[in-house]
Amino acid sequence: MTSNQNDPAASARGSQLASDFTVSLHYDRRLYRQDIAGSIAHARMLARQEIISAESATSIVTGLQSIEAEIAAGDFPWRDDLEDIHMNIEARLFEVIGEVAGELHTARSRNDQVSTDTRLYAKSAALELIDAVRLAQDALLHQADMHVETVVPGYTHMQRGQPVSLAHHLLAYFEMLDRDAGRFASAAGAADVSTLGSGAMAGVPYPVDRESVAADLGFGGVTANSMDAVSDRDFSLDLIYATSVCMLHLSRLAEELIIWSSDEFGFVRMGDGYTSGSSIMPQKRNPDFAELTRGKSGRVVGNLMAAMMTLKGLPLTYNRDLQEDKEGLFDSVDTTLSALHVVQGMVRSAEFDAGRMRRAAESSYVLATDIADYLVGKGMPFRQAHVIVSNLSEQAAGSGRYLHELSLDEYRAASELFDGAVFDITVDSSVAARDVEGGTAFNRVREALQAAKARLAAASDHAS
Ligand code: ARG
Repeated sequence: MTSNQNDPAASARGSQLASDFTVSLHYDRRLYRQDIAGSIAHARMLARQEIISAESATSIVTGLQSIEAEIAAGDFPWRDDLEDIHMNIEARLFEVIGEVAGELHTARSRNDQVSTDTRLYAKSAALELIDAVRLAQDALLHQADMHVETVVPGYTHMQRGQPVSLAHHLLAYFEMLDRDAGRFASAAGAADVSTLGSGAMAGVPYPVDRESVAADLGFGGVTANSMDAVSDRDFSLDLIYATSVCMLHLSRLAEELIIWSSDEFGFVRMGDGYTSGSSIMPQKRNPDFAELTRGKSGRVVGNLMAAMMTLKGLPLTYNRDLQEDKEGLFDSVDTTLSALHVVQGMVRSAEFDAGRMRRAAESSYVLATDIADYLVGKGMPFRQAHVIVSNLSEQAAGSGRYLHELSLDEYRAASELFDGAVFDITVDSSVAARDVEGGTAFNRVREALQAAKARLAAASDHAS
């Protein structure tokens, strides 16, 4: 057992540790613009409502603007002993404009203040994420455009299943990202309410005008319940969830690029900027960027779990635990933004080997379904056809051949329904046969590609 009681050095270390424990300045300082915008809107409203004088509001606003410039220029005297961004700015305001600074915190608490700041941040982060998603989608369309008629095996269980257009494969990721954009938009919506006026938790005893503050800050409305307002972090969970799903999608795409760039597949060559050499093996083109995209998805999903665990046991209303909402949120947003930018460049710079992909499709049993469908066309029930072609596949594989290398006699021994037309079944006829909405026939893929381009253009118009 050690005791600090008679040891001033240990006691100083102890109190240093204690204050380090509560400090959030190192991460919440990035909210300075939101914090200052919230304070300016609040001060102006206080003056409009004659809660403070117009002169006080003017000097508060001017002071805050000069502090914002100071922070932006890197000249702000940060003080860890003041714990967070809100206290740092308020203390500095006293230094800059004197005692009138004390009027700013009228009808406000750090509880509604930090919630409003974080909501402002979440809204703009969600919009930035949508922009980054759109760029990644554009890169996919760029590749899809060049590869409508590139045939690649489609896989189930990592086994060659049926041939597909490479563009069709790439457009699958376009759809995933499209849903991500929708989730980011809905997370922005969840954050789009002002909590100012909720005070510490019960509301404030001044004639504030909450709606005008909300409108000044660009919020769509105000929260309905002051107790919920200061303790709700659902908007943050929504955004972290949306980043988690987006990272899962990027991770799956990264995984495919990693596998496809291996010697075993050789389907793709990653752009030089997205691989790195090995310090020992001179031949290596390691897909580090794709691997890190896959790896970082783990941390983002972890942030979601951490945020939910932080919130699950909290009684109403504000508890200091809520300060833990920010690091994971910032990390998830930063990581997803950078992963989206990396994936965008990685996709754009990838070179797909169409010949190699086609050979992989042709040197396989991917036409088995089509051969069964052929028998169905001759009147056989599908289940029966399935058994026959399954046996033929085994027969071919047993003698080191593919299905199209069997003789007509061998086909006819399996079923009298076969004739020479079975040899017209090719990788191309297989793809062409999937002429259904959402299918891989080239004409359908071309249509889907046009539709995707139109959706992306409409989304970009909407955003600008
Ligand atoms: N740094 C705090 C947070 O992020 C600000 C709010 C502090 N409020 C309080 N009652 N201690 O949550």
